Amino acid sequence: MLANEAKLAQVLLNVLINAAQAIPDGYRHANEVHICTFRRDDNVVISVSDTGVGIADDILDRAFDPFFTTKDAIKGTGLGLSISRQILQQFDGRIDIDSSPGAGTTVEITLPVHTG
Ligand SMILES: Nc1ncnc2c1ncn2[C@@H]1O[C@H](COP(=O)(O)OP(=O)(O)OP(=O)(O)O)[C@@H](O)[C@H]1O
Ligand SMILES: [Mg+2]
Repeated sequence: MLANEAKLAQVLLNVLINAAQAIPDGYRHANEVHICTFRRDDNVVISVSDTGVGIADDILDRAFDPFFTTKDAIKGTGLGLSISRQILQQFDGRIDIDSSPGAGTTVEITLPVHTG
């Protein structure tokens, strides 16, 4: 199935909000969210990195589970990553997270280049 703007916006919105919420209050000049896009072989990649708190391995193992959240009930339902993964799978894409506590997080969204 071909990707579309609305679905990709839904994925990106969640990833960007996750990045912003991972950055503690204060230290405005020390913190960044970087977005870049590039081509890797037959795929396009959208990479979103943040300088936030990072994710411990045991949390990373569960981050894609539906309703898994470490946030307050008002801030998170824990559905963002699980829905994002489902959406990308419909388009033969994927979402991967590389993170460690204190070292920030990089999320890569990968989609095959259209060859129609
Ligand atoms: N960039 C990030 N930095 C640190 N932790 C993250 C990051 N992205 C995701 N997480 C962790 O993964 C968990 C699951 O993320 P997910 O987007 O599925 O749900 P949520 O953000 O908690 O809630 P929702 O997306 O439904 O508002 C988060 O609660 C958080 O612990
Ligand atoms: Mg989220």
